[in-house]
Amino acid sequence: MDLFPLVRPFASIVDPETAHRLTIRALRMGLGPSQHASDPVSLGIDLFGLHFENPVGIAAGFDKNGEVPDAMLALGMGFAEVGTVTPLPQSGNPRPRIFRLPVHRAVINRLGFNNEGHAVLKRRLLARRRRPGIVGVNIGANKDAADRVADYEAGIRVFDGLAAYFTVNISSPNTPGLRALQNKAELQGLVARVLAARRTDRVRPTPVLLKIAPDLNEEELNDIAEVALAEGLDGLIVSNTTIAREGLVSGVHAGETGGLSGAPLFTMSTGVLREMYRLTGGRIPLVGVGGIMSGDDAYAKIRAGASLVQLYSALTYEGPALVSRIKQGIAARLAADGFAHLKDAVGADVEL
Ligand SMILES: Cc1cc2nc3c(=O)[nH]c(=O)nc-3n(C[C@H](O)[C@H](O)[C@H](O)COP(=O)(O)O)c2cc1C
Repeated sequence: MDLFPLVRPFASIVDPETAHRLTIRALRMGLGPSQHASDPVSLGIDLFGLHFENPVGIAAGFDKNGEVPDAMLALGMGFAEVGTVTPLPQSGNPRPRIFRLPVHRAVINRLGFNNEGHAVLKRRLLARRRRPGIVGVNIGANKDAADRVADYEAGIRVFDGLAAYFTVNISSPNTPGLRALQNKAELQGLVARVLAARRTDRVRPTPVLLKIAPDLNEEELNDIAEVALAEGLDGLIVSNTTIAREGLVSGVHAGETGGLSGAPLFTMSTGVLREMYRLTGGRIPLVGVGGIMSGDDAYAKIRAGASLVQLYSALTYEGPALVSRIKQGIAARLAADGFAHLKDAVGADVEL
């Protein structure tokens, strides 16, 4: 049963961070709904050595400390990404730091990588290590790290063997200077060091994806595509939140500093995704994130080049039943377009 419609009025009057904390607590207590039906075969996809039952994942930031990955998988998600986690625990920016913009179905956050650090996440992932399901770890750097790249290398070393894949997050707008790592020379050094930090005793090295911002110009996107292909990154996640405020006509909180997510991010992040698919020639898998509110939105990302999709903000507005609706929507659109498998639709709208 979907209890979300009953709790939504309450959830929308309490402070968003408190509502989120209560949601995580409820999920930890096993109060989340469970989807038992198996996914249609058409939604399955094989990428970087992993089989995804469906392409819909929970984006990073929802479960920063790895408290509820199994509850997210039980909702019917095809994969769950925990983090961003930094080596040392960090309290982040002063509250309030998450703002709902209901008129726009959007969120602005300036959390600043608040998280419990590597050791706590490692303990939780060790406790669930024999469970099925794809759980990726999104790694970051502490705000005052002397060598930020070393923080990413540490993330790889600590979680290799526990993470199904890694996401290197260099695109949060809330850690000053972090996004400068997206510049070509810096990025090349970072990616080379991160990939070299992986264990070499595994049949297949753990896949590493890079998560980028939507606020990049053509030249920057081109540089990232070149580095990704030359260094052998396994995939790109497009995108993080935006510092732009296009599409926000008015309303409370529209002027808050931070990263904007939800519906107003859709067009921009999908445009960057399409461009990245073109620049990489479809040679590496892309994960489409940003403003997915429906099955149609998810399907548009797939046709623009995404092999997987992730979402966060829409869940806070629509509740957990959204996951099933999105999957049904994608399956219906695939069938209507005559595609037997998801992979056939990936990039269908992009001329290479
Ligand atoms: C409250 C909040 C916290 C987030 N924290 C992280 C984070 O720690 N790491 C990260 O890579 N992305 C983080 N994100 C970005 C999301 O993973 C996602 O890229 C972005 O919200 C766009 O997707 P959406 O429009 O479906 O929310 C966060 C987003 C929100 C709203």
